[in-house]
Amino acid sequence: MELHGAKVLITGGTSGIGRKTVDLLAKENANVIVVARDQHKLDRLWAEGAIAGAYCCDLADPQAVVLLAEKLAVDHPDLQVLINNAGLQHNVGFDEDASTPQTIREELNTNLLAPLLLIRVLLPTLVKQTQAAIVNVTTGLALVPKTSSAVYCGTKGGLRIFTKALQNQLEGTSIRAIEILPPVVDTPMTAGRGTNKMAPDKVANEIVHAIKGKRDEVFVGKTKLLHWVSRLSPGMARRIMKRLG
Ligand SMILES: NC(=O)c1ccc[n+]([C@@H]2O[C@H](COP(=O)([O-])OP(=O)(O)OC[C@H]3O[C@@H](n4cnc5c(N)ncnc54)[C@H](OP(=O)(O)O)[C@@H]3O)[C@@H](O)[C@H]2O)c1
Repeated sequence: MELHGAKVLITGGTSGIGRKTVDLLAKENANVIVVARDQHKLDRLWAEGAIAGAYCCDLADPQAVVLLAEKLAVDHPDLQVLINNAGLQHNVGFDEDASTPQTIREELNTNLLAPLLLIRVLLPTLVKQTQAAIVNVTTGLALVPKTSSAVYCGTKGGLRIFTKALQNQLEGTSIRAIEILPPVVDTPMTAGRGTNKMAPDKVANEIVHAIKGKRDEVFVGKTKLLHWVSRLSPGMARRIMKRLG
């Protein structure tokens, strides 16, 4: 679809992959609306002049997400693209002290429940547009999990399967549902861990290309290889990913 003049909402547009996607969307002359949690980062982004709107919301709070989505539907009846990019990862074992009912709820709500609620409330707006798109950012870990971050892997696996079912449901409508599966990317989320990390602007580029193009499932970088290995030899893929810790 054409991005020039299109209204695009992206969650987590203040950092990492989301921040680079905002820049590319602005270059395409899209009108970008950003949702994130940190008001200071939103203010900085607004001051840079790259965005057309900013909304502060903790996506881990489902009630706040529904209220936000209802407000967005009123404020932006011309919304064409929803990019569910915000996410967080607690890189811990499931039985460690760091994994508590609260951290589990926070990760589940932010990574899985918030995208579902935003999509559900904004669907009537999107379906009215001649062309529209929903982009869900998952990860290669949605194909094959690593050992730590079990909750993260579970939330992203859930978002992947949800996206597949949504694609079935949206057949014959004006909305395309797209899944982006990045590899390890050099952002604050992976600070201090991982090697050979992909630059976030490369993932942003794939997101923008996917919206403009026709693919509904985009394996980025090493995730392409992981996809093939997991199909040809699921056991080998499990062993490789398990070694990542
Ligand atoms: N980095 C990787 O290696 C990698 C690999 C595969 C997939 N991904 C996925 O790519 C997406 C972007 O990740 P990233 O690496 O760019 O992360 P990042 O640099 O840590 O940025 C995360 C963004 O999400 C927002 N966010 C997080 N929790 C939020 C909450 N509860 N409410 C509102 N906003 C929230 C943050 O906003 P605030 O700063 O305001 O909190 C920030 O803008 C995520 O979905 C992630 O799972 C990342």
